[in-house]
Amino acid sequence: MQLKAVLLSSSILSIAHAWSPTNSYAPATVDCADDLNIIRAADGLSDSESSWVAKRDAVTQAALKTFLTRATSNFGDKSILNSLFSESSNVPRVAIAASGGGYRATFGDAGMVAAMDDRTDGANDHGLGGLLQGTTYLAAISGGSWFTSTVVFNNWTSVQDIINQMGDNDGSIWDIEQSALSPGGTDTAFTNQRFENISGALNEKAAAGFPTSLADVWGLAFSYYFFPSLPEGGVGYTWSTIQETDVFQNAEMPYLIQLGKAQLPGAVGVDFSSPTIEVTPYDFGSWEPSIKSFAEIKYLGTEVSNGSPVTPGQCVEGFDNVNFLIGTCTNLIEYVEQANSAYYNAVIDQLATLFLGNSSSNSDRTLAIYSPNPFKGTTNYESGSDTTFVTEDKLLLVDGGIDGQVIPFIPVMKEERGVDVVFALDQTADADDLFPNGDSLVYTYERQFTEAGKFDAFPYVPDIESFVELGLNKKPVFFGCDASNLTDLSYVPPLMVYLPNVAHSFASNISTLQLSFTAEERLDLIRNGFESATMGNFTEDPDFLGCVGCAVMRRKQEKLGLEWPEECQQCFTNYCWDGSTKDDIKNTTNISSTVSNSSTTTTTTTTDSADYTTILSTMNSGELSTIHFETSTTITCHECEQSTASPTVTYTTITKECQECEGGFTEVVTTVSCEGDEATESDTHKYTTVSSWTTTTEVCTECEEMDAMASAGISSGAKVTTEVQVTSQAASSTKSSTKSSTMSSNDVSEISHVSSISIPAVLQVTTGIPSQASSSSSSSLYSVVINENTADRLSFQGILTLAAAVVSFVGLI
Ligand SMILES: *[C@@H]1O[C@H](CO)[C@@H](O)[C@H](O)[C@H]1NC(C)=O
Ligand SMILES: *[C@@H]1O[C@H](CO)[C@@H](O)[C@H](O)[C@H]1NC(C)=O
Ligand SMILES: *[C@@H]1O[C@H](CO)[C@@H](O)[C@H](O)[C@H]1NC(C)=O
Ligand SMILES: *[C@@H]1O[C@H](CO)[C@@H](O)[C@H](O)[C@H]1NC(C)=O
Ligand SMILES: *[C@@H]1O[C@H](CO)[C@@H](O)[C@H](O)[C@H]1NC(C)=O
Ligand SMILES: *[C@@H]1O[C@H](CO)[C@@H](O)[C@H](O)[C@H]1NC(C)=O
Ligand SMILES: *[C@@H]1O[C@H](CO)[C@@H](O)[C@H](O)[C@H]1NC(C)=O
Ligand SMILES: *[C@@H]1O[C@H](CO)[C@@H](O)[C@H](O)[C@H]1NC(C)=O
Ligand SMILES: *[C@@H]1O[C@H](CO)[C@@H](O)[C@H](O)[C@H]1NC(C)=O
Repeated sequence: MQLKAVLLSSSILSIAHAWSPTNSYAPATVDCADDLNIIRAADGLSDSESSWVAKRDAVTQAALKTFLTRATSNFGDKSILNSLFSESSNVPRVAIAASGGGYRATFGDAGMVAAMDDRTDGANDHGLGGLLQGTTYLAAISGGSWFTSTVVFNNWTSVQDIINQMGDNDGSIWDIEQSALSPGGTDTAFTNQRFENISGALNEKAAAGFPTSLADVWGLAFSYYFFPSLPEGGVGYTWSTIQETDVFQNAEMPYLIQLGKAQLPGAVGVDFSSPTIEVTPYDFGSWEPSIKSFAEIKYLGTEVSNGSPVTPGQCVEGFDNVNFLIGTCTNLIEYVEQANSAYYNAVIDQLATLFLGNSSSNSDRTLAIYSPNPFKGTTNYESGSDTTFVTEDKLLLVDGGIDGQVIPFIPVMKEERGVDVVFALDQTADADDLFPNGDSLVYTYERQFTEAGKFDAFPYVPDIESFVELGLNKKPVFFGCDASNLTDLSYVPPLMVYLPNVAHSFASNISTLQLSFTAEERLDLIRNGFESATMGNFTEDPDFLGCVGCAVMRRKQEKLGLEWPEECQQCFTNYCWDGSTKDDIKNTTNISSTVSNSSTTTTTTTTDSADYTTILSTMNSGELSTIHFETSTTITCHECEQSTASPTVTYTTITKECQECEGGFTEVVTTVSCEGDEATESDTHKYTTVSSWTTTTEVCTECEEMDAMASAGISSGAKVTTEVQVTSQAASSTKSSTKSSTMSSNDVSEISHVSSISIPAVLQVTTGIPSQASSSSSSSLYSVVINENTADRLSFQGILTLAAAVVSFVGLI
């Protein structure tokens, strides 16, 4: 099953140019048709993609029938399946969007996809097995593309296969016990040899006339771990090879889409207006206004004018190197550089000097360089847009997630692709505790209202704060459940099944900083991913399998006006985001009384429609910076349901860190729903509220100022809201010790100045990078010792490898 076997045994070797014509990293000129034009306008799918998808449809239909039959096996009425499978155009189309997030994302995504793969042990029993076989598109960004590239370019191997051969220091796939940037660990001779190989590959490409950059280095260095059985990590392996493989030709795998972003020459960074570049088995290009063209990926590197080779009959092949394209889609070196840290810049300078020689100071040394520019002279761009991307000789690319959209929604939500449901695998780490907070969804939601996104649609999502406060990042959630709610958008987008990384059997909130993992850690992350995608193998909700089935069927059910099974009704109540935000669950009002161990009893009568607010407590104390607030509240609504209301109480506890402060605050929200008939005789409700609470306060070190708030909200059918709000401002004038709670009020009113936290960190980087000129095998060790006084976002301890240091910055790939 390993690619070496493919190489040696299969038909691939006999296919002309499936590998680079030079069988190395260097592209080369080959003959091609005199009238070849490699460009098409982005006015629809390529014929190649359309006919491939038609073939795939036949495969997915059979797989989805099997999957949905299993998912709905305990439904009372299964007639919906008959309607869906009576005609091929009625069958739902499924896509998966795998987020970035470094290796955490690689393995988390792998685990979630494994849960959908009928080749995974247990997936057909306590997982979503078969869903992957029913999936048409598989899109990925950054760390997620390390996962997708690995399986796709290893003959569509399964995660289970990789698990079965997983080991440490044995050259198996994903054997990253050593980091890619320190591949030998203590064996510096090995590291030197590896880096000499990478240098050699770069030199070959440069000698063939193609500029190289650190993006090439990045791609080559990591690919050794994805294609360990291929010579030098598949140094001569080309992306378009995929077109020739049996597994692709028989449409036995989904259509791969990975993303980069094009950056203007001379600019720094990218945003929504920078074209998103799709990299697919056939195409390389963008739907967005300033390019609006796709190039045949196989002929990247050919010098063209409006798609025609400037030397008719002469094309370049081998530029579409797998390593280079992976390096492109995960290239965030510039992003790191932009942090403007003396330390990171020194590292990047060193790498550039060592690997790039004379071009080490070029302004685009950190960008993936596509020169010649495949879009040069094309005319499909929208009039009025910046024409730089079609006039420059080179095209410069970075990681597709750098604009904040770290889940690749855009390609799979394109109207042209006709997808009905998108499974969004979120391994990002933007919450304080390194779990997802939903921000990638918010970015893509917002982008549709910009020029670049005006032809795209994305379902409504709440703001990030609401996302976290409602706990939408803690379990699967469906977005865009009702097409009828989405009619204000450009078109009705697919339903989204959001699957966040949640700790089940493993604390999966691992830093993106971590670039080496033992086999055990990799397996832990994969298993936890499986559990995150399945509500803990369905232990947390035995109905979840059926609910996923409902999500898959929804758009077609709406379109065809089919009966909606009552089980699906219940699922949607449980899993759909209903449009509420944090404002709906609590209403912050001020409250008087003291804080400590307290309790109050209030009895109030209100009319049905009036909002009712009771002030429980206000605290305004200068000493506080951390508040642990616990509350218990019971509320009786006398006239609901014949005075027998037995309220359900749900607690949401959220801890947040204050800026530059180790403290935090806890919010407790209590919601009481008083079910029952609102129409009482007197048209009034009488409430008795008994609340008690305990607060524990701490003064946190070096806390400049913070607002802390604890709130308990109670709402019934009449929207009764009770809140406790605690506000504190604490200032500390020292930075050395934990303050006792004896701070005088003077300290507070001064709002004393606190010098910012300054933790000198010594970073020592020791790797064996050979100098480019060196021909001897005993290249000098490369070592940097840096005093980092500005204490960037992370405080470093001890010795980091170069790799970890570079990536620590990022939180993104
Ligand atoms: C590639 O995968 C297919 C399907 O799993 C398998 O039949 C085939 O033998 C594999 N090819 C090689 C060369 O291993
Ligand atoms: C969930 O299923 C996976 C795959 O079968 C398995 O590896 C894992 O141990 C299971 N987890 C639990 C908590 O049962
Ligand atoms: C370097 O390349 C040579 C030749 O392909 C290969 O035999 C060797 O294993 C590579 N070394 C490392 C450390 O990758
Ligand atoms: C690199 O620069 C050196 C010194 O300036 C020069 O001798 C050498 O020819 C250059 N090499 C390339 C490949 O341009
Ligand atoms: C992981 O999450 C747990 C629970 O939220 C938290 O206590 C821990 O600090 C987090 N780990 C990291 C590295 O942030
Ligand atoms: C759909 O739901 C969102 C979020 O609740 C709301 O803002 C929007 O106005 C609704 N649109 C329609 C057409 O109902
Ligand atoms: C919260 O309070 C504000 C102002 O007091 C009010 O306008 C708003 O409607 C309240 N929201 C809810 C959900 O009760
Ligand atoms: C909060 O409490 C303070 C002091 O009791 C009061 O002056 C203020 O008006 C209150 N704010 C609200 C929104 O009720
Ligand atoms: C508050 O109550 C808790 C538990 O009821 C008790 O352990 C604690 O000592 C009390 N604190 C004060 C200040 O009374």
